Amino acid sequence: MKITIIGTGYVGLVTGACLAELGNTVFCLDVDQRKIDILNNGGIPIHEPGLEEIVERNRAAGRLTFSTDVAASVAHGDVQFIAVGTPPDEDGSADLQYVVAAARNIGKYMTGFKVIVDKSTVPVGTADKVRAAIQEELDARGSSMKFSVVSNPEFLKEGAAVADFMRPDRIVIGCDHTPEGTQAQATMRKLYLPFNRNHERTLWMDVRSAEFTKYAANAMLATRISFMNELANLAERVGADIESVRQGIGSDPRIGYSFLYAGCGYGGSCFPKDVQALERTARDYDQDLLILRAVEAVNDHQKHVLGKKIVNRFGSDLSGRHFAIWGLAFKPNTDDMREAPSRILLKEIIGRGATAAVYDPVAMEEAKRCIELDFADDKTALSRIRFCARATDALQDADALAIVTEWKAFRSPDFDQLKTMLKSPVIFDGRNLYEPDVMTDLGIEYHGIGRQVLTRA
Ligand SMILES: NC(=O)c1ccc[n+]([C@@H]2O[C@H](COP(=O)([O-])OP(=O)(O)OC[C@H]3O[C@@H](n4cnc5c(N)ncnc54)[C@H](O)[C@@H]3O)[C@@H](O)[C@H]2O)c1
Repeated sequence: MKITIIGTGYVGLVTGACLAELGNTVFCLDVDQRKIDILNNGGIPIHEPGLEEIVERNRAAGRLTFSTDVAASVAHGDVQFIAVGTPPDEDGSADLQYVVAAARNIGKYMTGFKVIVDKSTVPVGTADKVRAAIQEELDARGSSMKFSVVSNPEFLKEGAAVADFMRPDRIVIGCDHTPEGTQAQATMRKLYLPFNRNHERTLWMDVRSAEFTKYAANAMLATRISFMNELANLAERVGADIESVRQGIGSDPRIGYSFLYAGCGYGGSCFPKDVQALERTARDYDQDLLILRAVEAVNDHQKHVLGKKIVNRFGSDLSGRHFAIWGLAFKPNTDDMREAPSRILLKEIIGRGATAAVYDPVAMEEAKRCIELDFADDKTALSRIRFCARATDALQDADALAIVTEWKAFRSPDFDQLKTMLKSPVIFDGRNLYEPDVMTDLGIEYHGIGRQVLTRA
């Protein structure tokens, strides 16, 4: 099948590459010339395990093309996936300008029936806006061409995006009940057939329910995280251990273990903005989503929790103090720095006069770019941050180590070496990677999230 992907970011590139891998001919469009140049020169603009090989293989086979040519992109695909960004607007709602611009381009250049697929995460009712934008362009051309707008939200996780796309738990597709909708449904069924060979994974529904499902899923996951973070803060006060509690409740099949880890807050390009956008949608319909407001407030608080622990331990004036930071990306296996808790921690400790040596296994380049932006109006503060090539380089003479991202490489470090390199053996662990009693036995002062700080007898 001939597919066009509009927006070659995390979702667009993974979708395009994976659909090409299955034998489709895919045209990936982006407005960002830099991204397209990287891809056309054999590179890849993001870090995503397994993606580079697929991109390379399919580009070489002629099934995957990258371009900024809008007219060619519309001409290519019978199916046009819109996978552009939907960042938060100032009022928290999803900014749909990129989605609508993509829709307008389709209306401007299409010459025959098209299935337009909203893959971006978009508020309920967006398909109507996409339809209206395309129709307006067609009307301006005096054209009566037919098309159908379908909702097919994406559930992949950054860091495991290829595996998630290739082996999805479910495929949600919303179509309408017009003749064009029926034609679009047949096209989508054919496109996703290879994913349903083992068993049917597609959930067919109306367009609005499909749009809503994506927000409901992210809101639920964010809720579980904030719930555990709030309980973790209480566990510290009442003398309980949140890790024991997590296992105690996760073993209940009605609850399950997933997304129950306490930590220093969720970040990334999805949960923060999607929770906000759903709240905003509710307000447009005169409803206040009380639970989600609390989820967001707890997360905002939690992103400061490592900074607070450091201040409690070392005092509010951190000048003369030096900290090692392991993990900058918002989660492991990605270089995505959007809304990463590490950025809040750095702002906090550098703002209090400290210096920091920071390290991430893959996000260094992106981290440098983002952190430089965060400190754009304070170059002196920025100069107090040293970007390190190795995890151990960051440790030298630090007053403490703070762990912000749970990369596998941080799970079993050489604690003896760590102790000799740090000025004082103190760890603030924002991801609960280690056991407090083991750390105490090693002579390390250990501050986890929702855990007790033990002292040796
Ligand atoms: N990143 C994730 O893990 C994830 C998962 C599921 C859903 N989503 C959703 O998918 C959408 C895309 O997210 P992302 O992380 O891939 O974003 P991204 O910022 O990585 O990529 C978006 C791309 O769209 C391009 N673009 C913008 N306007 C364009 C236009 N008119 N024509 C062509 N290209 C255009 C941008 O240059 C950019 O490269 C968002 O709605 C997001 O919420 C993201």
